[in-house]
Amino acid sequence: MEHIFKEGNDKNAPTFLLLHGTGGNERDLLPIAEMISPNASVLGVRGNVLENGMPRFFRRLSEGVFDEEDLVFRTKELYDFIEDMSKKYHFDRGNVLAIGYSNGANIAASVMYHYQDALAGAILLHPMVPLREVEIPDLKETPIFIGAGLNDPIIPKAETTELVDALKAANGIVTEYWGEAGHQLTREEIVKAKQWYNDNF
Ligand code: MLT
Repeated sequence: MEHIFKEGNDKNAPTFLLLHGTGGNERDLLPIAEMISPNASVLGVRGNVLENGMPRFFRRLSEGVFDEEDLVFRTKELYDFIEDMSKKYHFDRGNVLAIGYSNGANIAASVMYHYQDALAGAILLHPMVPLREVEIPDLKETPIFIGAGLNDPIIPKAETTELVDALKAANGIVTEYWGEAGHQLTREEIVKAKQWYNDNF
């Protein structure tokens, strides 16, 4: 997968796995990573699927309706990629924190839905339920931050709440931030994510 890796000064910090939204690329979330912690190593990844020229991490049939077969396939592709990159760049595979926005948050959630011990933590910004009728592995108190907008035109509040409940039921420790905004990221939610990061890592 297309990617960028930047080694950080703090070898004990988690490596940030950056997963962009639809139409983004591996560099999009670098400023967010810098705000959360400037010292962490960063692996920014570009989704392998193209929708009208816009990179994504998996195919969708329409807005909010996912191609589940492709989602499962792409989730494994990303999971294997993290493993390969940890060997290539010598970072601790057991200490990876995903930072995903929108489509990137959805594949990060899908990684947690499918693979045990895949992530040491996750910042999911404007995520949806990646898929239903999956038994989520025990998340063993993995800290998860979820940022959402009360006026998000793409994601109804009940969808985010369903995701929160599913992650909690699998023993994730979920912290929620609800802003007034829509689907876009806000400085306020990144400030809250940074506080959460400082409290947990
Ligand atoms: C998705 O397709 O993953 C979500 O609908 C959000 C988006 O990326 O537009």
